[in-house]
Amino acid sequence: MAKKMSITSIMKAKGARALVMITAYDALFAKLIETSADMILVGDSLNMSFAGREDTLSATLDQMIYHTNAVCNGAKESFVITDMPFGTYINKDEALKNAIRVFRETNSSAVKIEGGMDKADIVKYLTSNGIAVCGHIGLLPQSVRSEGGYKVKGRNDHEALQLIEDARAIEDAGAFCIVIEGVKAHVACEVAKSVKVPVIGIGSGASVDGQVLVFSDMLGLFEEFTPKFVKKYLDGANLVKEALACYASEVKCGAFPSEEHVY
Ligand code: KIV
Repeated sequence: MAKKMSITSIMKAKGARALVMITAYDALFAKLIETSADMILVGDSLNMSFAGREDTLSATLDQMIYHTNAVCNGAKESFVITDMPFGTYINKDEALKNAIRVFRETNSSAVKIEGGMDKADIVKYLTSNGIAVCGHIGLLPQSVRSEGGYKVKGRNDHEALQLIEDARAIEDAGAFCIVIEGVKAHVACEVAKSVKVPVIGIGSGASVDGQVLVFSDMLGLFEEFTPKFVKKYLDGANLVKEALACYASEVKCGAFPSEEHVY
């Protein structure tokens, strides 16, 4: 991407072209991702694929700030969004205090918050205090324990209407874009049509305003499980394992280091 996106250019993209969002957790991958992504998300999914935990719930604000700094160092020209982790936006004051920490201690351009109508007052409080907010509706990974698993949303009329109301409430509260996760494709399409801000889908079909994937899923590096909506653009885990095995066997047989790698 030639130039860092702004809130205005992100919002103007709706209806003009599809937006590309990819997660990153470190400087190395952020630099590789920067050229392909309009927005880089420092997702709390890092708690699973980076830290090896079972879900995102134990991610901390310190952890998110550490990884956001790494990502911003690697991708200086990118619009970076930081996930507010579980428990850091339980009320307006906590949310603002913690979001201010993200803005003071990193170069992040925005924060992301999970929830719909129930979080609209918090989104409004943040946006009216200078914090740009990306919403996140549909399947909410931070609710995995209370919901007893990852459940696809928009399966009936009631859920579909709720999602449209959630998106409108978040938009009215000042969010500049909304991630929609794990929602039936035809419902996600209606949600995207019902708001003026871009709706970025993950596991929510093609008829939205852009897509987001977790980089370690799309590069085939995360082997624990592969959700149906993930397309692997690289067989990363096997390529890495083959390279490592090659190195190990060359060390063992003395083929590495050879003359060209010796001072
Ligand atoms: O944490 C994350 O990576 C996310 C994406 C799944 C959207 O929230």
